[in-house]
Amino acid sequence: MNVLIIDACTSDKSRTRGLAEYLRKRTKENADIIRLYDDKPYSLDEEMLKKRDMAIGENDFSDNMFRFAKQFAKADTVIVAAPYWDLSFPAVLKQYIEAINVCGLTFKYSDNGMPVSLSNAKRLIYITTAGGYIASDEFGFGYIKGVMEMFYGVKDYDYIKAEGLDIIGADVDGILKNAREEIDKISI
Ligand SMILES: Cc1cc2nc3c(=O)[nH]c(=O)nc-3n(C[C@H](O)[C@H](O)[C@H](O)COP(=O)(O)O)c2cc1C
Repeated sequence: MNVLIIDACTSDKSRTRGLAEYLRKRTKENADIIRLYDDKPYSLDEEMLKKRDMAIGENDFSDNMFRFAKQFAKADTVIVAAPYWDLSFPAVLKQYIEAINVCGLTFKYSDNGMPVSLSNAKRLIYITTAGGYIASDEFGFGYIKGVMEMFYGVKDYDYIKAEGLDIIGADVDGILKNAREEIDKISI
């Protein structure tokens, strides 16, 4: 098993990271961790897009910009740890998705225009914490699940969420304990 933890958390005090760490300690396998605020994915501006399209056209993935995609392609279990921000997740995670979705490297298009995975991903575990209540699962977890399913054929997923943490008087320890109990049910 090849586990990759994609960490879009801002600090060591992050409760989301705390839950991901709890899961990591339970995994029987070693996990690769990418901390997106330490190793920030590039922004696809005009220059980068041109450079990237040229490399894709030449089927030459030697540039360092493809390191995100190459690391992702090896993982069969993908764990995403992302706090709930502005109804979804931090922007750095969207940039990461743009960095890993590389046609010819992590996926290709079939003759009828549908994405076909060239990656190993089989399973997604999405972990989030929210200050209030998650308005719609579609915008955060649902988006990542959609990308994983559409591009990589991932159908096996778990969704761990701890909500209401910033509400005055919230039983923060109790909420996080419940989330850890949900994590205990995941076999990995
Ligand atoms: C930039 C920003 C945006 C946020 N947006 C929301 C939001 O839309 N809804 C919500 O319930 N909480 C929101 N929060 C609160 C966080 O979801 C909450 O504090 C979360 O537990 C932070 O995770 P962390 O401890 O892993 O950093 C936001 C926090 C920040 C810093």
